[in-house]
Amino acid sequence: MSTADCVKKRQAIRLAFLVMLSLPFLTAHSISPAVVYSGPAEPQRTSKTRRPVKRSKAQPPRINYSQFSHVTHVTTQKLTCDSCHKFPTPNWKEVRTGEAAFQDVAEFPEHSSCLNCHRPQFFARERPAPVICSNCHVGVTPRDTTRFLFPSLGDVSDPKFKTRDVISEFGVGFPHDKHLDVVGLSRPGFREEPVAQLVTIAWSSSNQKPAEQPKSCPVCHQTYQPQGDSSEEYLTKPPKSLGDNFWLKKGTFKTVPNSHTTCFSCHNAESELPPAPKDCNLCHQLLGPDQKLKVDFDPKLAAEMGVSDKTVFSAWSRRISAGAFRHEGGEHPNLNCSGCHDATVMNTLDKKTLKVPVRSCGGAEGCHITATADDGGALNYEVDQKKVNVGFVCVKCHITFGREPVPANHAEAVPKSVTK
Ligand code: HEC
Ligand code: HEC
Ligand code: HEC
Ligand code: HEC
Ligand code: HEC
Ligand code: HEC
Ligand code: HEC
Ligand code: HEC
Repeated sequence: MSTADCVKKRQAIRLAFLVMLSLPFLTAHSISPAVVYSGPAEPQRTSKTRRPVKRSKAQPPRINYSQFSHVTHVTTQKLTCDSCHKFPTPNWKEVRTGEAAFQDVAEFPEHSSCLNCHRPQFFARERPAPVICSNCHVGVTPRDTTRFLFPSLGDVSDPKFKTRDVISEFGVGFPHDKHLDVVGLSRPGFREEPVAQLVTIAWSSSNQKPAEQPKSCPVCHQTYQPQGDSSEEYLTKPPKSLGDNFWLKKGTFKTVPNSHTTCFSCHNAESELPPAPKDCNLCHQLLGPDQKLKVDFDPKLAAEMGVSDKTVFSAWSRRISAGAFRHEGGEHPNLNCSGCHDATVMNTLDKKTLKVPVRSCGGAEGCHITATADDGGALNYEVDQKKVNVGFVCVKCHITFGREPVPANHAEAVPKSVTK
């Protein structure tokens, strides 16, 4: 255990000053979901606000065995994914049944993958149960040894399972460019129906014109909670006095995959198409600390609106371009996804490459960017307003960004007016 001791010592030294730095930082992140553990409070947990948030840059004040970290185990301890995660797990036929079932990693690692190093924590004489158990178990009483739903089962919505809210330490590396021609719906003439699982490999893309809507996108991304034909436009009930003010509408967000269902329909043992399902690390990569980009999102506003849906909250809080943009709004559903999202430059592990260029708001025929402000371009109008009144807030596309100065690329996107 000499390496472990050494790690501990180094951590202790770093801690001494990191703790001071981290306290204000941690409280500012109080919206982050904490680990849910149904048992009574354990002695380790002193105060809610001081509980370290997973993935924070700072080290926890002491070793917190309720918050498993992959950095400790994969980066420091150099453990491979398969030393803990087995593929497939024996329960794969139970979590999904019939047609829906496929070989998957559907359960937490077993005790045997921890015991070599964590005997003291596993056999600690704590009551009700050692805190380390809460990484996987909902409860550990002689009668109840249920685990949480393993998080790769995002598509399994059986209410009998409890889910554990953890901020993922990983990003998914999905090379969009390599899939443009290989993923498609097998049904011809589709629009936006969520028939995600009908995937076929189409090795040749000979008859697809470049200007055509990519067929692949709706396989993995659907409009979430669309308004459709309903007269109810808003996601939650707005106040009567709303007027023209912003309130979140249905159909604002697109979903992202929340399980292995689509990926493993092609990447599986039979196809031998790499990455194989057991090669977790070829798709999941630990995110470095430099992934923090400014987001156009206000958690207070979301709370005021009563946004409690996890999918909505997660998508909204990740928006780095335009927090108010609605996919179902106006002409947007008739536009080509690629006009705003360029799959050839998108790298899902590098968020800044996912920014939607402000130019794309002009569309092909100048929608929000017009020759002059009189032609109705929202960007023209707001840039002009900001010029005469620095206090003006741009609300057409933004939640919080609109209070900031006009970025250079916005000013450049607007044609210089010659007439005035
Ligand atoms: C020492 C054992 C261990 C190793 C090694 C390990 N894991 Fe895990 N993994 C766990 C445990 C325990 C959990 C559940 C606790 C949690 O969610 O943090 C988990 C959860 C996860 C999750 C869901 C939570 C999250 O942060 O997204 C992903 C994804 C994951 N592992 C992927 C991987 C990959 C990829 C590797 C290899 C690079 C790996 N794991 C290596 C034990 C391990
Ligand atoms: C090869 C040894 C090794 C294995 C196997 C291992 N761990 Fe660890 N783990 C460590 C070391 C070293 C630390 C650093 C703190 C310490 O010394 O206890 C640690 C820390 C932790 C922590 C504290 C938070 C963190 O991750 O830094 C938790 C929780 C934890 N391990 C859970 C597990 C679980 C659950 C498993 C099995 C799925 C597991 N570990 C497997 C060596 C190991
Ligand atoms: C890394 C995740 C993980 C951690 C941490 C963990 N367990 Fe488990 N536990 C499991 C899994 C997975 C099973 C199911 C194993 C099986 O069915 O073969 C299980 C099963 C059990 C069972 C049922 C009997 C058995 O062995 O199959 C008991 C009791 C149990 N765990 C107690 C605990 C206690 C107490 C702790 C804390 C000291 C703990 N577990 C920590 C994953 C975990
Ligand atoms: C086989 C599934 C699949 C297909 C097909 C696919 N994507 Fe993705 N897409 C993903 C995954 C996986 C991610 C990463 C999600 C994450 O980080 O959790 C992603 C991420 C994205 C993001 C960034 C999401 C964010 O959180 O900001 C955009 C935008 C996007 N895709 C657009 C597209 C477009 C446009 C197409 C069609 C050209 C497309 N995708 C086709 C799986 C797919
Ligand atoms: C008119 C431009 C435009 C079009 C067309 C468009 N999007 Fe988007 N999309 C955006 C903007 C803006 C965002 C917000 C990005 C941000 O702020 O991070 C976004 C976000 C996303 C996200 C992340 C989740 C979310 O809603 O925040 C996905 C996934 C996505 N788009 C997929 C698609 C797919 C698939 C299509 C085609 C069916 C499409 N988009 C068409 C502009 C567009
Ligand atoms: C319709 C079948 C299909 C689906 C569905 C699919 N893939 Fe792929 N994937 C492929 C093919 C074919 C390649 C090889 C493309 C190439 O090399 O040009 C590939 C390549 C990859 C690669 C690159 C491998 C390398 O060696 O560079 C990664 C990573 C990957 N896929 C991840 C994913 C993920 C993640 C998903 C689910 C979100 C997914 N794939 C869904 C067919 C698919
Ligand atoms: C072909 C690519 C691919 C492979 C291989 C793969 N995954 Fe995934 N995994 C994904 C995608 C895509 C998602 C859904 C997007 C997401 O949740 O971030 C996902 C989701 C997950 C989640 C839920 C993450 C969360 O925080 O919600 C866990 C846990 C997970 N995978 C574990 C594993 C483990 C363990 C392995 C290896 C046995 C593995 N995956 C292999 C692509 C892959
Ligand atoms: C028609 C939609 C639209 C309007 C109107 C608009 N923006 Fe933006 N804005 C975007 C998009 C798209 C991005 C992401 C592209 C980028 O950051 O380059 C963005 C990005 C930003 C950013 C982030 C830049 C960065 O460096 O991260 C700021 C700040 C911003 N806008 C401020 C404003 C202000 C101030 C106004 C009013 C004058 C305004 N925007 C009007 C669409 C709009």
